[in-house]
Amino acid sequence: MKRAVYPGSFDPVTFGHLDVIKRASEMFDQLTVSVLDNVNKSALFSVEERVNILKEVTKDLPNVKVDSFSGLLIDYAKKNDVHVSVRGLRAVTDFEYELQIAQTNRMLSQGSLDTVFLTTSLEYAYLSSSSVKEIASFNGDISKCVPDFVAEMIYEKYGHKH
Ligand code: PNS
Repeated sequence: MKRAVYPGSFDPVTFGHLDVIKRASEMFDQLTVSVLDNVNKSALFSVEERVNILKEVTKDLPNVKVDSFSGLLIDYAKKNDVHVSVRGLRAVTDFEYELQIAQTNRMLSQGSLDTVFLTTSLEYAYLSSSSVKEIASFNGDISKCVPDFVAEMIYEKYGHKH
């Protein structure tokens, strides 16, 4: 059985992430989308909220599971016996950061955890969770970036009524 993990902050999940999730779920028998519980990073949504959002948006994808992890990705992967990490690449600006994470994980796991990159569909290439949050904080239109119920949750966090 081919299994993979798609790790990330997902604060919040965007249509760009969803595109990667759908495509990766067709490549692997089982895909676990796992939210990083990062104590050092201040997030808009709690890990529990992010997990619940991800569960809702992936409910029609039967081979996709949602989980969370803290600490090193390689330790989480080892514990779950997963050897492939999936990441999306939007543009060349992502490349250096992603290459560094992928190389580090391969080195730290002694080759046990490899990374597969999916180039995000062009219509989502401009999307990032941080820009979605910035736009929403100024009550701008994020309807093309995230599912409607997620947009509502984001506006609510910033105290905007819709
Ligand atoms: O969505 P993000 O914030 O770009 O995801 C980054 C993520 C979660 C993939 C990366 O930060 C990660 O795996 N962190 C866990 C800590 C770790 O394993 N670090 C070593 C690799 S640099």
